[in-house]
Amino acid sequence: MKKIDKSIMLGTSISANQAEGSWNINGKGLSIAEMRRFNPALDQKDINTERKMTKEKIEEALNKNSKYFYPKKEGIDFYKNYKEDIKLIADMKNDCFRTSIAWTRIFPNGDEIIPNEEGLKFYDNLIDELLKNNIEPIITISHYEMPYYLVDKFGGWKNRKLIDFYISYAKTLLLRYKDKVKYWIPFNELNAANYSVWAGAGLRDDEHENILGLSIYALHNIFIANASIIKEGKKINSNFKFGSMVATLLSYADDSNPLTVLKADKDQQMKIYAYFDVLHRGAYANYALKLYKSFGIDLNITNEDKILLKENTCDFIGFSYYMSGVISLANESLTEGNLVKVGKNKHLEENEWGWQIDPVGLRILMNRLYDRYQQPLFILENGVGFKEENPNLVMINDDYRISYLKSHLEQVQKAVEDGVECIGYTMWSPFDIVSHGTSEMSKRYGLIYVDQDDYGKGTKKRIPKKSYYWYKELCETREIK
Ligand code: BG6
Repeated sequence: MKKIDKSIMLGTSISANQAEGSWNINGKGLSIAEMRRFNPALDQKDINTERKMTKEKIEEALNKNSKYFYPKKEGIDFYKNYKEDIKLIADMKNDCFRTSIAWTRIFPNGDEIIPNEEGLKFYDNLIDELLKNNIEPIITISHYEMPYYLVDKFGGWKNRKLIDFYISYAKTLLLRYKDKVKYWIPFNELNAANYSVWAGAGLRDDEHENILGLSIYALHNIFIANASIIKEGKKINSNFKFGSMVATLLSYADDSNPLTVLKADKDQQMKIYAYFDVLHRGAYANYALKLYKSFGIDLNITNEDKILLKENTCDFIGFSYYMSGVISLANESLTEGNLVKVGKNKHLEENEWGWQIDPVGLRILMNRLYDRYQQPLFILENGVGFKEENPNLVMINDDYRISYLKSHLEQVQKAVEDGVECIGYTMWSPFDIVSHGTSEMSKRYGLIYVDQDDYGKGTKKRIPKKSYYWYKELCETREIK
């Protein structure tokens, strides 16, 4: 039986907007995540259209009498229940726990000078609770939940002013938790700025006919904010470790035709490496700049920006990995990811949302990333969503989840044996929480069942699943059984 290497911190991962709820309590402002509605008629085949955030949908979200339900306003009540929830995580013997701080609890609109003390107090307590239980906090500074005000008044990340607002927010956290938090993730899944422009960059999908182009400018500002906060952070505490975070949309060539292989290589450049290259090599790659230019985009990067990016790269390679896809010349038989469509792979099974399960892909990816950047890896998200009914509130026998996690962890260990340096693995997610992409509860990732339906109804009782006990044993013995 394999043991997972002791260099790897084992833990779990959530985000504030998918779990906390209490969206307007104790001075909190409205975030863009809370404006995503649950749509029961959601046609899974048309998920990418349904997700688009238009002027009309924004008006509806701001309408107090809206007929729609906005699940992220309620989350799973983690805000009120955090002590009990952390106790469950502590009982599971997790080494670390990753969550985000809701920007809107600290700066409700985003442009205030003085932070909201009540918001900070919540995170003081949360972080203290983790430390009391010997759990290392891994903090994401911005996880798809910027203040709506910054979108409304400043136009989101396409406006360079956002960099200052972000620095002021992030610096508040770095100073406050300088002796308590070591691992920081400035932005969740930074490539979402291009694939999911509302969540990643605070852009409306219908605000420009070339929204991808606009998002590339917005992303540049995000890169600058990322580098700036690393620079500021190292002055505050030189031991801070800053991680990148990219959603790794791994794809393979569908056949051995060199043209398909070339297409797949180019796909991976733009889906994965274009982001990590800036974050870890400190400069845009030529292939990316050339492609942008062919779109008519010239970033006109100043020398000052170039130096900033070069001198302030991330310390570890953080990423999420859920699935893989294939690239064919014809690009037929597309299946769903939560960010982009990918091709079907006949060798792999998929879950009900069309996510193709590929543990070996994780090992391939880890080797590729480590070979390219030679920096330690941190798997910040990995997990799988299933529909689970539990009317009698009993322990669910989720052997399918255990099998997903086990097969992925085995590949993590194999990658370590290949020579890859890996410092952490935080599975997504300890509890069932509101889905990022579809804002539903039915897509359950948790090791712990939460009695709540898509409309927020239920007792919110937490009931550990079989996988909870499996993960606990893994954390205690490090044996991958
Ligand atoms: C990642 C996000 O993209 O995937 C998480 O960082 C998200 O916030 C996770 O929950 C799973 O995606 P989804 O859409 O199934 O919740």
